[in-house]
Amino acid sequence: MARPQTEFLFAQNVPWGSAAPLPDRPGVSAKTLSEDDASGERTVIVRLPANYSATVASPFFEEMYVLSGALTLDGAPVKRDGYASIDRGRRTAWGSTDGADVLLWLDNDPLKQPSDLMIHDVLTLPWRGPMIPVEGAAPDLRRKVLRVDPHTGQYRNFLLVGLPLRYPHDWKERDLTHPCVEEMFVLAGEITGPQGRIGKGGYFWRPAEVPHGPFCSREGSLAIFRFVKGHHINVWGDEYFPISYDQPYKPILPLHQQQFGRSAYEGPLAY
Ligand SMILES: [Fe+2]
Repeated sequence: MARPQTEFLFAQNVPWGSAAPLPDRPGVSAKTLSEDDASGERTVIVRLPANYSATVASPFFEEMYVLSGALTLDGAPVKRDGYASIDRGRRTAWGSTDGADVLLWLDNDPLKQPSDLMIHDVLTLPWRGPMIPVEGAAPDLRRKVLRVDPHTGQYRNFLLVGLPLRYPHDWKERDLTHPCVEEMFVLAGEITGPQGRIGKGGYFWRPAEVPHGPFCSREGSLAIFRFVKGHHINVWGDEYFPISYDQPYKPILPLHQQQFGRSAYEGPLAY
């Protein structure tokens, strides 16, 4: 079955060791944030131990964002807040001297990628204005673009910084729908929506055509977004819905993840 809606869970509530084995990576620990049990596509947090090395030829297109520690890919460093994408089937030497925690996306992406191995030091990437060519993208938000669709120029994977003390006019807004998947992981701060306050370590996978919002944020946010499996278009609904900073945690989770959604995580861990 297609990957179900996970909206949202805290990665801190998902135990290490909950992931199926990753292709060619024995000895790593991982936690699964979402998965398609038919195709094997998934989003996981992977923990590479110290002195790790492996040669990987994954059947998936893989993207990663380094949450802590550092690794090398074919000898090139990918440090904390580094991003990399690797084409399907590419033989790549993974290594880590001191260990690393990595947010990893495994996709059967049918699009040809611009490079077989692409690495960004995200710290040095510029902050950019609104996404082009998506109508209605909030003009006051800033993005660091990690991957662009080579055919459409649309941002497929990017960091988004949201201002604090944001809320819609009169604390209500129409809902929003996209004909593509939207996926998000919060690095810092929070975004509050109908399912509650998505703090750091908060993660959602929202399939295409699922109405969502409105959203607000008291603290501001730094989050990674992906728009995959379809064109990113904003389709606004007709009806207005209320929102507040005090929205309780009411996640929408598939049966096998409901054990992870009993309470919001409020401890010190980042994921
Ligand atoms: Fe959206």
